[in-house]
Amino acid sequence: MSTLAVIGTQWGDEGKGKITDYLAQDADMVVRYQGGANAGHTIEIGDEVFALHLLPSGILTPGILSVIGNGVVVDLEALEEEMAKVEASGRSMEGLRISDRANVVMRYHRLLDGAEERQRGERGVGTTGRGIGPCYSDKIARHGIRICDLLEEGALRERLDVIYPMKKRQLEILGGEGMPAKDELLRKLLSQGKRLERHICDTSVLVNDAIKKGKKVLFEGAQGTMLDIDHGTYPFVTSSNCISGGICTGVGIGPSMINEVVGVMKAYTTRVGSGPFPTELTDEMGKMLLTKGGEFGATTGRARRCGWLDLVVVRHAVRLNGLSNLAVTKLDVLGGIDKIKICTSYEIDGKVEENFPASLSRLQKARPIYHELKGWEDFTAGKGAEFASKGYDSLPPNVRAYLDFVSKNAGTPIRIVSLGKERNETIDLRSHKKPTIHSFY
Ligand code: GDP
Ligand code: IMO
Ligand code: MG
Repeated sequence: MSTLAVIGTQWGDEGKGKITDYLAQDADMVVRYQGGANAGHTIEIGDEVFALHLLPSGILTPGILSVIGNGVVVDLEALEEEMAKVEASGRSMEGLRISDRANVVMRYHRLLDGAEERQRGERGVGTTGRGIGPCYSDKIARHGIRICDLLEEGALRERLDVIYPMKKRQLEILGGEGMPAKDELLRKLLSQGKRLERHICDTSVLVNDAIKKGKKVLFEGAQGTMLDIDHGTYPFVTSSNCISGGICTGVGIGPSMINEVVGVMKAYTTRVGSGPFPTELTDEMGKMLLTKGGEFGATTGRARRCGWLDLVVVRHAVRLNGLSNLAVTKLDVLGGIDKIKICTSYEIDGKVEENFPASLSRLQKARPIYHELKGWEDFTAGKGAEFASKGYDSLPPNVRAYLDFVSKNAGTPIRIVSLGKERNETIDLRSHKKPTIHSFY
């Protein structure tokens, strides 16, 4: 059995798309298990740039089955648009499978998302506006429309008869406008169902069968640990379980089926939207990370807030996900900085805190305690690929010292080092004979 999960350890946008695409070269199946079109996973292959929102990152590699699990909330319009874009690049949708149990993001969920944000005013979450919160709320309240409903007109009509009046009323109360007519929703869903029917199946059966047959299955997380509905910076979170625990419910497999959990960690920290961010930099260094790192949201285009690496956050992720190892991305972006800071703990009310607090007011008082490391020279063009081809030991000593510090402090080995956007700017220490890094291999 060989299964592997790729999970975000911070507030999303760690480079999960790049790492999933890299690891997918060796996989038979890539499965999304939560989130929806709020995700934006950027993958660069030569001159091509893809920002995937709903399609698993395996879709770009021929021969792989790409599965949208039951835990994903599916915006059918967004999905069809994305399918068309990827098809236009000459890739096939033959391998796409969509769970018949996944919930559908309805037009009114997007409208409710906007209306709720307006109601929250200055205390808004800063959602992506993709209807994620309202859709998951309806799922839990048992007011959801599922993919399987699209294939049965009578059942769908009955579901809408119950749900539609409540949603219409809810939108009116929140001051939202533009509720589509019930018949229009019904017609659209049925036609979308017809077009997508060949992709729809019981994906839990599919994935479990693949695992039993010894196929290599990769679970692709969306968002990140700090955006997890239970363990993130609530209420400034998304509405699903992004952590590895979400894989079992979001795919329909047992916990014993997950072999390896890779945590993707950006070499610094970013966050889009509102909420606590103890190591945020609002100075020139923050601006430099934003510009050099190209830190603009792949879904909404918003500028990401930037700050130093926070190992309190990473340790939180190590524990919650049972991480086997880390994939560290964007080391090239830190090149050219004289002294690099890494937060190892917080000081709150005069006391040292090693764990991430639940309380927002305690977080507001948290002062990062930093460890300082010497930086390294800027990478010139092609340097990332050169280091990658020569292997880990060719990296500048200060980069290795940085990675060693992270690995020891987080208590996890590092498996992957990413030095640029492309596949060939990646080092997998697994394929290295003698990794000098703190390692349990
Ligand atoms: P995701 O949501 O976790 O998949 O991450 P995003 O795609 O939203 O954001 C990560 C961005 O960083 C993308 O534009 C990637 O192409 C880019 N990226 C990933 N790894 C690296 C790296 O090692 N170096 C650089 N410079 N860019 C990277
Ligand atoms: P990927 O998969 C970064 C953030 C939003 C907002 C909060 C709630 O690309 O890492 P939502 O629309 O989910 O209700 O918004 O979560 N958010 C993300 N931030 N990367 C993402 O996905 C995100 N998906 C949601 O900005 O703060
Ligand atoms: Mg992203």
